[in-house]
Amino acid sequence: MIIGSRNDGSDSGVSLRAERFNRHTFWCGQSGSGKTYALGMVLEQLLLHTELPLLILDPNADFTRLNEVRSDADTEEARALAEIPVRILHSTSTDGEQVRARFTDLSVASKAAALQLDPISDAEEFNVLLHTDVDPKTFNNESFITGLRASNDPGKLKLANRIENLQVLEWDLWSRGVEAITDVIDTHPRANSP
Ligand SMILES: Nc1ncnc2c1ncn2[C@@H]1O[C@H](COP(=O)(O)OP(=O)(O)OP(=O)(O)O)[C@@H](O)[C@H]1O
Ligand SMILES: [Mg+2]
Repeated sequence: MIIGSRNDGSDSGVSLRAERFNRHTFWCGQSGSGKTYALGMVLEQLLLHTELPLLILDPNADFTRLNEVRSDADTEEARALAEIPVRILHSTSTDGEQVRARFTDLSVASKAAALQLDPISDAEEFNVLLHTDVDPKTFNNESFITGLRASNDPGKLKLANRIENLQVLEWDLWSRGVEAITDVIDTHPRANSP
């Protein structure tokens, strides 16, 4: 796929082998040298010329307009790009679709990280977490905490305090019945850009 042209006066374009993008790629250059710009070109070309699914974790919000085509771009490629399903999910801006996660979809390690739990130094609480199975359809913040508190298990009491103190259940991140990022990925859009 062609991603640009040479500046040595020759006519030949600069091309990369698209099929190699299913492997690790290290993309480096000085600040301001054009990494983001060139990566934008690569992402467009991958969308156009491959079937590779793309999941773009984009904390700098460099590619949040990947699903838009410039009004003056009236080419075959622009028309093709406009047809490709790209979902852009936001985590800081409240405009547009939001990144949401379902706590129950997380691995135990991720749940423990959200709760700042260590499997050794917080062994009792960690073990409660390990054995706590909640149904996302019926999950309710208050009854969950009340249920933990109703027990005489010191691990459960400590976990209830931890959850309340960290206010984890109040995070905007949780899907609370709406579409979670895992659901978005299951719909197989070509690119997600959280
Ligand atoms: N091939 C190009 N043609 C025209 N302008 C370009 C090109 N590459 C980069 N630029 C412009 O140069 C500037 C710096 O590029 P870019 O932001 O991509 O650099 P970067 O390496 O990602 O920088 P940083 O390390 O700060 O993230 C931008 O204004 C960009 O639009
Ligand atoms: Mg950059």
